[in-house]
Amino acid sequence: AIIPVILCGGSGSRLWPASRDSFPKQFLTLVGSDSLFQATVRRVAGAGYGAPIVITGADYRFLVAEQMRALGIEGDIVLEPLRRDSCAAIAAAAEIALRRDPAALVLVLAADHAIPDAASFRAHVERGRVAAEAGRIVTFGIRPDRPATGYGYIRPGSPVEGAEGVNAIAAFVEKPDLATAERYLADGYLWNSGNFLFSARVFLDELARLAPTIAGPVREAVQKASRDLDFLRLDGESFGQATAKSVDYAVMEKTDRAAVVPSDFAWSDIGAWSAIWDLAEKDADGNAASGEAVFVGARNCYVGSPDLLTAVIGLDDVVVVTTKDAVLVTARDRAEEVKAVVQQLTAAR
Ligand code: GDD
Ligand code: MG
Repeated sequence: AIIPVILCGGSGSRLWPASRDSFPKQFLTLVGSDSLFQATVRRVAGAGYGAPIVITGADYRFLVAEQMRALGIEGDIVLEPLRRDSCAAIAAAAEIALRRDPAALVLVLAADHAIPDAASFRAHVERGRVAAEAGRIVTFGIRPDRPATGYGYIRPGSPVEGAEGVNAIAAFVEKPDLATAERYLADGYLWNSGNFLFSARVFLDELARLAPTIAGPVREAVQKASRDLDFLRLDGESFGQATAKSVDYAVMEKTDRAAVVPSDFAWSDIGAWSAIWDLAEKDADGNAASGEAVFVGARNCYVGSPDLLTAVIGLDDVVVVTTKDAVLVTARDRAEEVKAVVQQLTAAR
């Protein structure tokens, strides 16, 4: 069985005020009735998949445990005593998967993405399986529709022998600048979706070669990990020694074992409130709401207001989000600028 590894680290300043450092976006219920984290766990629950390994910051342990309990799905919850970015988190989970099964295939999933069609996603994973078993580090490539600079870009190379629908990766470039991203868009590059399939053994060997300052300390942090209630807590002193780098920079840009499954499942990493409007069910005027909302002469608006009845009159393309202690009103196409709000608030504190 494939072992799902769910990366549940992130902060979510882009969805302020609903997401905060103490309650990042993966725990929010933004589309449907599950939180993004719960939808991720469910996406890979069932036949062909083992119990998930969820790796998260120690502060989020009760949130994770509670949301898994609500699903009725059990798994290992691994706690990072401090943040060392995604590569260290993945490495720790891979070490733990290896202790469960020396031949483990691991599927790494970001907990904060929306992939509405789980069956299609799993079919793509299945497509990548043979290549992963043969020692490839497999990514899932999304066809880009704009020159976004916040993603990894993949140039697909020649087909991988014996693995239908899988290409070698000729180049992987994380977060290029705008001019480069525009060129890549024209040249048929794909976006890295942030999910990875590989043999735990292969990944860890590759890591030991490419990033020994992550591999070594993380292995020690797992060896010295301690049980804490139902949680497995990584040793803080060792884990703190690991270099903080994302897997994209530490491994994907450098390895020659990378492969890509060119994918066509619907995918969003929900970078801003506008993406939630994109995904949401809309009324005849294009308005969508989570919580109770009234629209009068308004079009293409989004209201996210779980506790406060909210009315919008005579406005188009506006996003309104309320929480107990904050209200956001923004033009829909400027929703990404909440980053600037969060920066100002943090600076003022
Ligand atoms: N447990 C844990 N600990 N998880 C982490 C940590 C950490 O220290 N840091 C990041 N993560 C998790 C995040 O929660 C998220 O689910 C995932 O790893 C990716 O991290 P992001 O910080 O969201 O990365 P990104 O969005 O800038 O870029 C990545 O995703 C893009 C697609 O959305 C890269 O993989 C890009 O190449 C990719 O295109
Ligand atoms: Mg992300």
